[in-house]
Amino acid sequence: MKLAVKDVLGLEYMTPQDIELILNTAKDMKKIVTGRMKRVNYLQGRTVITLFYENSTRTRVSFELAAKYMGAHAVNVSVGVSSVAKGETLIDTGRTLEAMGADIIVIRHSQAGAPNLLAKNIKASVVNAGDGMHEHPTQALLDMYTMREYFGTLKGLKVAIIGDIYHSRVARSNIFGLTKMGASVKLYAPSTLVPPGIEKLGAKLCSSIEEAVDGCDVVMSLRIQMERQKKALFPSANEYTRFFGLNPERIVNLNDNIILMHPGPVNRGIEMTSNLIDGKNSMINQQVTNGVAVRMALLYLLTGGQSQ
Ligand code: CP
Repeated sequence: MKLAVKDVLGLEYMTPQDIELILNTAKDMKKIVTGRMKRVNYLQGRTVITLFYENSTRTRVSFELAAKYMGAHAVNVSVGVSSVAKGETLIDTGRTLEAMGADIIVIRHSQAGAPNLLAKNIKASVVNAGDGMHEHPTQALLDMYTMREYFGTLKGLKVAIIGDIYHSRVARSNIFGLTKMGASVKLYAPSTLVPPGIEKLGAKLCSSIEEAVDGCDVVMSLRIQMERQKKALFPSANEYTRFFGLNPERIVNLNDNIILMHPGPVNRGIEMTSNLIDGKNSMINQQVTNGVAVRMALLYLLTGGQSQ
């Protein structure tokens, strides 16, 4: 099977068949990521460019490693020292990179819709690596991969997402993806950090953390996004931790098989206590490893690769 799309801009319009194809392909890619010889030639001669207008560790490095493990030319554009700083537009930057041979441009941008704009104006494939408060599709794909790897299926899984839902592109992409694949999603956030109409996306908004985590298989905590807050939306970090932080007492009565996830970077002790982050139920490091496998799968499929 082949991927039905040229670009990966979000999970809102991605079909369950394409999601399934990416997750299945990632399973094979994981053998390469965790093997001793991390080198195949699936992308030999191809060029992948990462164009990040916002900070990143996991997403940028994992895309670059994914491209390199498959033999592509992988180039990162440091936006701060590029011609963007001289006022070059996004479309002109994209066309310039395409003119130099880019097959895939991976973009992170503070403006929602920037990857869509780029995709409409160039022939190369565009992958959204996070756009404003809109979507972060590859994060949700790696999260779904991690859940499916652990539980064997996404169908029927109960997932709680706790924290700053308002600013979270991770939450939006996970809600789109998980509900399409048959999982159910409960949300809990400070009332100032709940986006209006979020339940229309198919998730259930809860009124306490206990209600949110009750009966769950997965609890996903989100990062407090201080950089996107134009005004104080909760009284203090201590207050946030008291009502929304995950600690051992909050999960002690839950299913022993529960898994704890976080997209990272984590504010240790605020969103989750250190003993949970580093504990046996935490999937945070597995998420990072799986991120490389999922991004390999995506790059492979976007360059015409086929899989089951
Ligand atoms: N989860 C995530 O997007 O992390 P980075 O900001 O480090 O890429």
